Amino acid sequence: MIMKLVLLWVLGLWSVSGIDLSRSESFLSYLDEEVTVSPGSTTTLIVPLTLIQGAASKGAVCLDGTLPGYHLHRGFGSGANSWVIHLEGGGWCNTIRSCVFRKTTRRGSSKFMEKSINFTGILSNKAEENPDFYNWNRVRVRYCDGASFAGEGQNEANKLYFRGQRIWLAAMEELMAKGMQNANQALLSGCSAGGLASILHCDEFKNLFLETTKVKCLSDAGLFLDATDVAGGHTLRDMYEGVVTLQGVQKNLPSTCTSQKDPTSCFFPQNLVSNVKTPMFLLNAAYDAWQVDQSLIPSLADPHGLWRACKTDRSHCNSSQIQFFQGTKCSMP
Ligand SMILES: *[C@@H]1O[C@H](CO)[C@@H](O)[C@H](O)[C@H]1NC(C)=O
Ligand SMILES: *[C@@H]1O[C@H](CO)[C@@H](O)[C@H](O)[C@H]1NC(C)=O
Repeated sequence: MIMKLVLLWVLGLWSVSGIDLSRSESFLSYLDEEVTVSPGSTTTLIVPLTLIQGAASKGAVCLDGTLPGYHLHRGFGSGANSWVIHLEGGGWCNTIRSCVFRKTTRRGSSKFMEKSINFTGILSNKAEENPDFYNWNRVRVRYCDGASFAGEGQNEANKLYFRGQRIWLAAMEELMAKGMQNANQALLSGCSAGGLASILHCDEFKNLFLETTKVKCLSDAGLFLDATDVAGGHTLRDMYEGVVTLQGVQKNLPSTCTSQKDPTSCFFPQNLVSNVKTPMFLLNAAYDAWQVDQSLIPSLADPHGLWRACKTDRSHCNSSQIQFFQGTKCSMP
């Protein structure tokens, strides 16, 4: 099969979120905080949370053992048999401590999830805001496992459930039963940690459907790179190693990768995308603000603040700093 892989680098995005990495491990949970642009004249579509009632018997639960959930708004007209699934993002947890903290947030427990959310962007039902998908069945799957929907295990002592893969399966089963099995086209999308999940699960998604269903995937800001930081360390890899090990991710990673590389490497899209058979669209900024701030120049890697000015404003970078960024960009797959 031919892999259709489209890379689109949006150059020049450079805003930095201002998160202070040095303060706590839970910084990762800030990822995917969304900026909502109010749509002016028209009213916002508000969609209630549905908990997956059958999930508990399958052990498909959030970090704290509560039911996972999703928001569904039905398609209509020519989109009635088309589905777009959006996997929510929001960082990862890589230690007992950060996962225990996460249980007290919407990223680890449905107790804390919004009971309804606004559907905007790719989930909007307005043709002018979302011309391609406005009348499709649109779903946002909530993220409450902390390992990009890919973990399997538990920690008795701290009452932590690592059930990302089961949540993924339970959500897909429920949506299939709600009509997705009749889809003539389906798109699996995701942002950030959810964008990584959409890469990890792309072929599994495709395999849910008949051969005749047109299936594609979209990863938005999910191309996390195995980068060397300014101090020569591997901040993101170290964190991913914790996620993969603690949450039992290895068994759910593609064997095409794990037969060749260590499991942590197989949590990086650069080692996965060439084996994905389903058409996939990768959307990522070359200077992804989160990766600049958290992976390339994390505060701990710049104790003297030599990179601070350059990190916040590119016009303050000197020639060797620019070179560092260029080198990183060019090492993208
Ligand atoms: C959702 O929409 C409502 C009604 O338009 C608005 O009041 C609210 O601020 C929105 N919430 C978010 C998180 O954007
Ligand atoms: C650029 O700035 C960094 C950090 O302050 C410094 O180590 C490096 O020597 C500078 N390079 C040049 C070419 O000025």
